[in-house]
Amino acid sequence: MADAIQPLGRNTFGNPANTGKVLSEEEALNLLNSWVENERLRLHMKQVAAVMKAWALERENLSEEEAYKWWLAGLLHDADWEKHPTEHCRIIIEELERRNVDPSVIHCIASHGPRHFGVEPENSMDKMIYVFDELSGFIHAAALIRPSRYEGMDVKSILKKLKTPSFAAQVSREDIQDALSRISNSLEEIIDFIISHQKDVA
Ligand SMILES: [Fe+2]
Repeated sequence: MADAIQPLGRNTFGNPANTGKVLSEEEALNLLNSWVENERLRLHMKQVAAVMKAWALERENLSEEEAYKWWLAGLLHDADWEKHPTEHCRIIIEELERRNVDPSVIHCIASHGPRHFGVEPENSMDKMIYVFDELSGFIHAAALIRPSRYEGMDVKSILKKLKTPSFAAQVSREDIQDALSRISNSLEEIIDFIISHQKDVA
């Protein structure tokens, strides 16, 4: 993410009266497709969405309804990045507030880059989007240079690439470390989870 992003300057988002209100899958995908032209960015957002939902269901044991909020936050977290790079996050947040979306979804999106947006991840949904965002993109970059893509990809090769500063240099190792320091799971476990849950996302 560029350094010119303006911090959001607030810590509360949405209206508590909208708790439980979400966009339908069709509305969310329409928003993504109309705001984002870059296919690779679209895929990144879908991958983060899939990994977030899988984590909510498998690791947090949440209901389908709750896991859908994780999916929605993942799907839309970078919706304004392409068209509004310096106002990244603020534009999508204001759009979701206008559409009366559940405040937890909006807070989660606002928490996906504390160093840039100035919003601290509070709950597990917030913490996991921060953990998954950069690592998901990093693992996909690694898949793209392998002829067999995700097939046979192992955790060790990703760990090695993380220690190679020139590989996917734009991915902040500092953000990855900071995100991981807020949860109790290991880097190896997170990498393994991402590989197995984003490989089939198209
Ligand atoms: Fe992202």
